[in-house]
Amino acid sequence: MSDLVLMEVRGNIALLTLNRPDKLNALNYALVDRLTERLDAIEDDPALRAVIVTGAGRAFSAGADIKEFSESVRRGPDAAVRAFVRRGQALTARMEAFPKPIIAAVNGLAYGGGCEITEAMHLAVASETAVFAKPEIVIGIPPTFGGTQRLPRLAGRKRALEHLLTGDAFSAQRACELGVVNRVVSPGELMPAAFELAGRILRHSPLTTARILSAVTRGLNATIAEGLAIESEQFARMVPTRDLREALDAWIDRRQPEYQGC
Ligand code: COA
Repeated sequence: MSDLVLMEVRGNIALLTLNRPDKLNALNYALVDRLTERLDAIEDDPALRAVIVTGAGRAFSAGADIKEFSESVRRGPDAAVRAFVRRGQALTARMEAFPKPIIAAVNGLAYGGGCEITEAMHLAVASETAVFAKPEIVIGIPPTFGGTQRLPRLAGRKRALEHLLTGDAFSAQRACELGVVNRVVSPGELMPAAFELAGRILRHSPLTTARILSAVTRGLNATIAEGLAIESEQFARMVPTRDLREALDAWIDRRQPEYQGC
């Protein structure tokens, strides 16, 4: 059986490709598990500093595998939550809290779970041919990979509810207006744009990058007072590092910093 999530390393960036093109990269349990394994391996490898996720074929992902989770639904609420909801929520939470920047390169259809993983990743670039939807309502469920929580936080309650309650498809441009993607480019520009965005982040210290990701992700889910405490804590963790000393000295000396990631 072919690998459900391909991984290619380009410099210090890992490119992950969802690889079930004949099923529009529907997220079956095995694919979700493989994607999680890939993220674990990337987190463990200090040489890898950013991740880009895209899809093989014409889709980014058509969402959860409906045939598979429909069998879990047959087994009742506990089994369905265990196999389907917990697994999907764990994946999107992992992406959201990932300590290295993770960028979606949305090459085509991003329906249901495909849209939810885009919402969860830190940044996203979409091809102008990509089409998004929150179609769970059509099959009788609320979104379950965090889509009822993250879209309203990104887009605001009313904008989110329009898409959650209609299930209608929407364009990449609309996804950009909603804050689900950062920019829309031509299909040929998609991967160069994703790598260029990663490259602009990789100029900076990996430690500072991780601190900012952590402060934003944790802070968004907290009150402002708790968020400010988190921000302060992330700053304090940088104070004893060589990378912070180097960044400050390089600025004062008017030279490019050389980071060691410690
Ligand atoms: N789960 C399982 N299989 C899926 C799937 C999903 N979410 N989405 C697509 N597929 C499979 C189809 O069953 C088909 O496989 P088959 O050829 O073996 O029958 C293949 O992928 C191609 O899909 P198809 O429906 O023929 O493509 P299309 O271009 O006509 O339609 C969609 C594309 C996305 C509109 C349609 O596939 C769809 O509605 N998918 C479900 C999207 C969804 O509701 N996702 C949220 C799930 S919670």
